[in-house]
Amino acid sequence: MPDLEVLLSEERIHDRVDELAARISADYAGAEDLLLVGVLRGAFIFLADLARRLTVPHAVDFISLSSYGKGDRPTGAVRLLLDLRSEIEGRHVLIVEDIVDTGHTLEYLKQSLGARRPASLKTCALTKKPARHEVPVEIDYLGFEIPDVWVVGYGLDFEDRWRTLPHIAVIDPTS
Ligand code: IMP
Repeated sequence: MPDLEVLLSEERIHDRVDELAARISADYAGAEDLLLVGVLRGAFIFLADLARRLTVPHAVDFISLSSYGKGDRPTGAVRLLLDLRSEIEGRHVLIVEDIVDTGHTLEYLKQSLGARRPASLKTCALTKKPARHEVPVEIDYLGFEIPDVWVVGYGLDFEDRWRTLPHIAVIDPTS
C-alpha cells in the first residue's frame, strides 16, 4: 500500500467549491440556458458537489476523453471516447474539469466545443499544475494550483484507484 500524503483536505475543498459555486452563480445570474459539461471520469465528484451548490438553473452533461495510457505518462494525442448527448449551439457552456496537467485536454475541448457555436464557453477546473503546462491554458474558475506531483482522491485516480477518497492526496506512483 503506497504512502498517501494529504495535499488538500476535505474541508479546504469544501470551502473552495462553495466559493466557486458562489462566483459562478453570480456570473450566470439571469442566464437562461447554462449547461455544465463534466469531463469523465475524474470530474464526476467535483461536478456533483459544484452543481448542487449553484443557485442558477442549469443542466448537466458529460463527455469522456483520453490523453493517458496506463499510469501517469501522457501519450500525446487526445481522443474522444464519449460525446455529449446535448446540442450546445446557442447555450452557455461551462466545462468542468478535475485537473489541468499539460493542458492538451482542455485545449482540445475548447476547440471542439467552440466549433459547435455555444452562446459562451468557459472553463472551471478544481486543480491545475502550472509547471506541467505545454499549451497556454486559460481557466475562468480555478480551485487550486498544485505542484508537479501525481494526486488522487475527490474523483482523481491512479490506475483507477483512490477516486473516492474525500480529500486530495499525493501518491508516489513508483512506491
Ligand atoms: P492534460 O491533457 O495533460 O491536461 O490532462 C488532463 C487529464 O490527465 C486529467 O483530466 C486527468 O485525467 C489526468 N491527470 C493529470 N494529472 C493527474 C493527476 O495528478 N492525478 C490524476 N489524474 C491526472
